[in-house]
Amino acid sequence: MSLKVVVLAAGKGTRMKSAMPKVLHRVAEKPMVEHVVDAASSLGAEKTVLVIGHGAEQLRATITRDVEYVEQTEQLGTGHAVQQALPLLNPDDTVLIGYGDVPLTKPGTFKQLIDDVTESNIALLTVIMEDPTGYGRILRDDSGNVIGIVEQKDATPEQLLVKEGNTGILAAKASALKELLGRIDNNNAQQEYYLTDIFALAVQQGMTITTHQPDHEWETAGVNSRLQLAELERIYQLNKADELMTAGVTLRDPARIDVRGELTVGQDSIIDVNCVFEGVVTIGEGVSIGPNCTISDSTIADGTVVKANTVIENSTVGKDCTVGPFARLRPGTELEAQNNIGNFVEIKKSKISKGSKVNHLSYVGDSSVGESVNIGAGTITCNYDGANKHQTIIEDGVFIGSCTQLVAPVTVGKNAVVGAGSTITKEVSPGQLAFTRAPLKTVENWPRPRKK
Ligand code: UD1
Ligand code: CA
Repeated sequence: MSLKVVVLAAGKGTRMKSAMPKVLHRVAEKPMVEHVVDAASSLGAEKTVLVIGHGAEQLRATITRDVEYVEQTEQLGTGHAVQQALPLLNPDDTVLIGYGDVPLTKPGTFKQLIDDVTESNIALLTVIMEDPTGYGRILRDDSGNVIGIVEQKDATPEQLLVKEGNTGILAAKASALKELLGRIDNNNAQQEYYLTDIFALAVQQGMTITTHQPDHEWETAGVNSRLQLAELERIYQLNKADELMTAGVTLRDPARIDVRGELTVGQDSIIDVNCVFEGVVTIGEGVSIGPNCTISDSTIADGTVVKANTVIENSTVGKDCTVGPFARLRPGTELEAQNNIGNFVEIKKSKISKGSKVNHLSYVGDSSVGESVNIGAGTITCNYDGANKHQTIIEDGVFIGSCTQLVAPVTVGKNAVVGAGSTITKEVSPGQLAFTRAPLKTVENWPRPRKK
């Protein structure tokens, strides 16, 4: 069986009030339409066809997935939209139809439909709702067999009482779609070519319809407004929180975490409130992440403590480190193990070897710091001369006194000591004490200014 997916994404999304096509609005930092594409490719879809219309250029420019596009220049209805994709399909393909503004359907739910498809059977996802207003209603005969779908706007008062709504998500053979869509018309309240009309036609010619319901109603919820987008974002995030807790992670409040990418966390790690994880983040076991941290595309090893308000980006943090509060690890930071990085410390593109400390108010950039180094408060590596960046090398066992400026390129040799308040512009050899110091001057009885 060859699986192809058709995703309808031509609509404008007027109620979003946006210059951007609706399906590019993001859930967990990923365009809604890519959620659908990713679910489909996880099922081994050989091809995904996006039917686009409004904002076609923006869609092509933004979507990063391997998909094919067909343009539906006029939105004449869902049936017409699917028809546009047919030339890209083979008659024997099994076709799954999804919607770019329905992002949270689980792959397993799609699979139930796909598995039901035969030459003579179409599989449809329906949902039973308290209030199905706006949805097409599923019509069944006395034996419970689906005999058709009627749109809200075309339904009789009696049909409107039906609680089983059409999600629009279905799977069928391409050959069946082609044949049935060739026979629909637009004689209805909206003068559109309805995809839903294929069901009555299929039944008339002896085909059967099987239905499935999703485990959760949100799997088929579409987004028409920013409010609905925010609602689905929360549902997505609560699901992520659920997965993490099931994997043995403590979340201080599962309603206050945001995962905008792929987060993996080891057992017995604790994540405090309001943390944001972006891109690919891997956290080991027994790690503690304090409140209000943002961590992007980074790895944090077992036993490390990240304290409140720390920002970590494209960095690797080894085992048993303490980072923060209020620390910033910028891209290219590598903390080897047992490092202490304290408050208001910024580190960029630097390796800090085992056991070294940068505890207060420092900037370390383009540096290589050896083991068991102590960098005193307020130390700055002056790595930029206004045109180029230069390296600072600090070897094992060095002690840098507070408020030191290391003017790169510069090396401080093994076990050397730099006195507080120094500006180091030349190499310091191993074991040396180096300091620059203006002589202390004093003035007796200095008259302090008085307020007028
Ligand atoms: C459709 C279904 C309805 C179902 C509901 C679920 C039909 C006729 N009706 O109604 O039974 O309960 O979805 O939400 O199918 N689109 C295109 N091109 C078009 C028309 C639509 O790409 O020409 C896309 C839209 O961008 C949207 C989706 O298809 O993503 C659904 O279209 P919409 O017009 O919103 O259908 P509904 O009236 O909601
Ligand atoms: Ca709709």
